[in-house]
Amino acid sequence: MSLITTENKDGVLFLGFNRPDKKNAITLDMYRTLTAAFKAAQADDTVRVVLVHGSPDTFTSGNDLADFLSEPMDDKSPIPAFLEALSHFEKPIVAAVNGPAIGIGTTMLLHCDLVYADTTAKLAVPFINLGAVPEGGSSYLMPRIMGNVRAAELLMLGETFNGQKAKEYGLVNDVVEPGKLMETATAAARKLAQRPPAALRITKSLLKRWNRDTLDKVIPTELELFAQQLRSPEAKEAMTAFFEKRKPDFSGFK
Ligand code: COA
Repeated sequence: MSLITTENKDGVLFLGFNRPDKKNAITLDMYRTLTAAFKAAQADDTVRVVLVHGSPDTFTSGNDLADFLSEPMDDKSPIPAFLEALSHFEKPIVAAVNGPAIGIGTTMLLHCDLVYADTTAKLAVPFINLGAVPEGGSSYLMPRIMGNVRAAELLMLGETFNGQKAKEYGLVNDVVEPGKLMETATAAARKLAQRPPAALRITKSLLKRWNRDTLDKVIPTELELFAQQLRSPEAKEAMTAFFEKRKPDFSGFK
């Protein structure tokens, strides 16, 4: 079974993370598959809407930290292409968030149009705790969506927050009981799939275009700094500590 599943049903392309043993951590190959899926969905007239979802207990734990340790982000990284495909995707994207939605698992939601979470959702943008910095346009979009102090709280403390807080901060539309998540997200996606597609695409582009030029500068700048920080001793300590199942010790760094 593929680590990214795709199923087109009645105009809705269900795009699923499917690596449950590693909490759906996204590998380099998974980014490539996701990029290809968004590009194919863009070109396929039978796809009206994309619905991104996780496995039964997890949305995604974000970037595979083993990849971050072993493969420094360089020119060959598939992450910029993924963010480009996601942030430039012209059709509506709905997300269904359950369990962990960490790092890019949360920042990708900033590029979705409708986001539903269930009461198990645990979101976080914990880049700081990894010795890293914001990515995915989050340093620009989060202050706009929720205000500076809330963006600073989430990005500087890097703590996990639940769906209710995500709703209060403007990251999700609604929080539902676990059994209702896919049903709720699918119902919204089906409604979108029945709207006139050209008007829907133009509506989405109007909602996004005024940020477009800035975002096209923000995302590569963030990634450059992210890649630089990944090579830092702080990041090495944070990621090694994760795999050694201990707390990182940043006391020796200045
Ligand atoms: N990259 C690589 N492996 C990961 C991973 C990630 N992002 N997230 C989880 N895993 C692996 C764990 O190493 C573990 O593997 P093992 O069974 O071989 O030891 C397995 O997935 C299960 O994870 P575990 O931590 O035991 O599950 P949990 O339910 O206790 O916690 C999380 C789940 C998501 C809260 C926790 O795994 C976590 O914090 N992951 C890292 C999140 C992160 O920092 N992402 C990157 C942001 S830039």
